[in-house]
Amino acid sequence: MRDRSTLALRVVDGRLSLLDQSRLPHEEHWLACDTVQAMIGHIRALRVRGAPMIAVAASLFAASRAQSGDDRDTIAEYIAVLREARPTAVNLAHAMARLQACLAAPDWRPRLVAEADAIVDQDRALCEAIAEHGASLIAPGEQILTHCNTGALATAGIGTAMGVLRRAHEQHKRISVWVSETRPLLQGGRLTAWECAKLGMDYRLITDSMAAGLMAAGRVDRIIVGADRIAANGDVANKIGTYALAVLAAHHRLPFYVAAPQTTVDAHCARGADIVIEQRSADEVRGAMNGNRWAPAEAPVFNPAFDVTPAALISGWILDTGVATPAQAAAGCFAAS
Ligand code: MRU
Repeated sequence: MRDRSTLALRVVDGRLSLLDQSRLPHEEHWLACDTVQAMIGHIRALRVRGAPMIAVAASLFAASRAQSGDDRDTIAEYIAVLREARPTAVNLAHAMARLQACLAAPDWRPRLVAEADAIVDQDRALCEAIAEHGASLIAPGEQILTHCNTGALATAGIGTAMGVLRRAHEQHKRISVWVSETRPLLQGGRLTAWECAKLGMDYRLITDSMAAGLMAAGRVDRIIVGADRIAANGDVANKIGTYALAVLAAHHRLPFYVAAPQTTVDAHCARGADIVIEQRSADEVRGAMNGNRWAPAEAPVFNPAFDVTPAALISGWILDTGVATPAQAAAGCFAAS
């Protein structure tokens, strides 16, 4: 397992540590990941988050335990429980299936470690390719709205939707970015704003409810979001609030793009309605998570972490292989061949 350092994870001498994303932007605190209980706790509490990053972190955890000498059955158990830790994002399931396949080989230990390293390297490369394809769509001076956090915190590389914006910024396209705060856990306000500031990008933070007014005022040229799972028909599960943005984009005749790597495509999931949507704690919505409750302590809550945007509302899917059009999606480019 190679030493490495990204914005959100480090591997040093076979030990994995993660930047605690739940404490950002106020505090940069690094977490140890020595036990599977700790690792699952980090994933469930969104201390590590983002569809590609969850897969990368869980893979490196399994590799670190394999390298430390845990036996094959124990590693198999880790893989099984890690796989269930976040149900909607399919990247985690894909990565765990790759590691599971290594366990069948007599030399499973070095194989699994090499596979985990390959998963991380591949994620970085996929981000680069997405960024290139996506940036080529963007005209100078565009105002682009994005949702949730899809950047270097959510991946092992420069990000998905955020990677596209970053590449356009590096190409001096003078873009400005509207960052929606992303209720209830504020990944936009806490994380994307933090990343944009670090990168010196021109950005402005809005509450989710401001997007409609901005579009009506002609102050949004394009929307680019990430994905947690792309079904075979092109429907996309992504952070709650994405569907609302897609409906608004259609009403205002604005291009709505989804940026994601091939590891986010679930060719065996026929349509968005088949995607399991994670329900999360009521306290996220009541406000108790950050010690500043704004609702009655017992207020009944509905809190799906994701929603599904139908393919019909998507202008294009920015993939590592290129930009898929609605016609290609309808012709089955996401379906198993
Ligand atoms: O619940 P999270 O913070 O893990 O949400 C996942 C996401 O970051 C987004 O939905 C994102 O668009 C896909 S990950 C690049």
